[in-house]
Amino acid sequence: MSEHPLIAAYRAFAPTSDALSKRAQMVFPGGDTRSSAHFAPYPLVISSGSGCRLTDVDGHQLLDFMNNFTSLVHGHAHPAVVAAIEAQAPRGSAYAAPSLEQIELAELIVERIPSVEQLRFTSSGTEGTLMAIRCARAATGRQKIMKMEGGYHGSYELAEVSLIPAPDRRGPVEAPASLAVDDSFPASVLADTVICPYNEPAHAQRLIDAHAGELAAVIVEPVLGSMGMVPATTDFLEALRQATSKHDIVLIFDEVITFRLDAGGAQRLHGVTPDLTCLGKIIGGGLPIGAVGGSRELMQLFSPERERPVMHASTFSGNALTMAAGLAAMRAYTDVEVARLNALGDRLRNGFNEAFLQAGIRAQAIGQGSLVNVLFTDGPVHSARDSLPGLAGAGHVPRLLHLTMLRHGVASASRLMYCVSTAMSELEIDRAVSAMNESLRELRPFVSTERPALLGASR
Ligand SMILES: Cc1ncc(COP(=O)(O)O)c(C=O)c1O
Repeated sequence: MSEHPLIAAYRAFAPTSDALSKRAQMVFPGGDTRSSAHFAPYPLVISSGSGCRLTDVDGHQLLDFMNNFTSLVHGHAHPAVVAAIEAQAPRGSAYAAPSLEQIELAELIVERIPSVEQLRFTSSGTEGTLMAIRCARAATGRQKIMKMEGGYHGSYELAEVSLIPAPDRRGPVEAPASLAVDDSFPASVLADTVICPYNEPAHAQRLIDAHAGELAAVIVEPVLGSMGMVPATTDFLEALRQATSKHDIVLIFDEVITFRLDAGGAQRLHGVTPDLTCLGKIIGGGLPIGAVGGSRELMQLFSPERERPVMHASTFSGNALTMAAGLAAMRAYTDVEVARLNALGDRLRNGFNEAFLQAGIRAQAIGQGSLVNVLFTDGPVHSARDSLPGLAGAGHVPRLLHLTMLRHGVASASRLMYCVSTAMSELEIDRAVSAMNESLRELRPFVSTERPALLGASR
């Protein structure tokens, strides 16, 4: 069978990446060391990043709307971050001892995020959510965790249960099934996880009441990131707060992504304060990081001065290089910059939506602030059940659009997630919108043959 013309065009565009991907196939399973960054036929191999631009090994310059899955809030090689790393590197990268920069970065976060009185740094967001869950179990003596259908909290089983709500297995919305995403999940993890439908306050309250005696924690992302950047409503977060408080269940906000929506996190925007907050991505200035923070009372469970502290070792946690980069990045992450970022995000969403309307393609750009996701569905989207048809359910179309946008100089996640960095201005946003218009022109003939249902005159 001959290759789809838009995939063939991509191969012709990126021959050096093609050759390198064949080498990568020899040493990495599936040709990549990171499944989330991989896509078929192969990703572009990047040689450098500067500001809002990436350069690939074939010499193309691309506007980077991926920003390492939202973590580069200032884009690549921000001058203050580079200077901080250059100053720290000759002084060593990790000490296994406290440093001034650890305390300063922690103080900055405590000052800004309403729920965080104390915190622990971790090496990744994954480790941050894991430690939050352990803290909640130790605090309550209970074992089960409630998570949201479509929620993602890192690379371990519990953090991924029911990430993808497969229509044939997910069960009724009022009591979603606990679903494994691959064949590695122990049955015990599925049994210990209660799944809650996103943005359904009444169902959430009822489920929390029903499982109250067994629930240690409820963990929620204020924007459902991996399943299409679906924003939570304030009503929903308030319902979770109310129901968890009633039963002394620990409420955890996973703000690994959403800390980029407000200098005080999404919790400040919504006016809802969780017990624990997980952070990651932007707080490391581009280097690996995570954190868990919360009330002094809960965080004291980690204190090595206690009799039976929650164990938290973590070789690279709080390492000097990350602390230096994170501190520089967070000092540049101001209310003024966040307002600018969010306005740029709105401009991108509006521009994309206008492009879909003009092209007569039933797609939409959703999200919040600087976080944008294109979905090939025109229905209202409040949950992972709503977004799924526009992601996996849209066949090859999102993938073809992604490859075509790359050829037009715009990089996003292959699931069509875009995010804005402070290195961008309206100029870059408008260039991305032009690239979308051009890409849709190329895509349109193939959309009609592959997914007739996606085409229509009205939205
Ligand atoms: C909401 C959320 N939580 C946790 C994580 C895990 O963070 P990390 O990849 O740093 O382990 C991610 C990663 O994408 C995330 O989006």
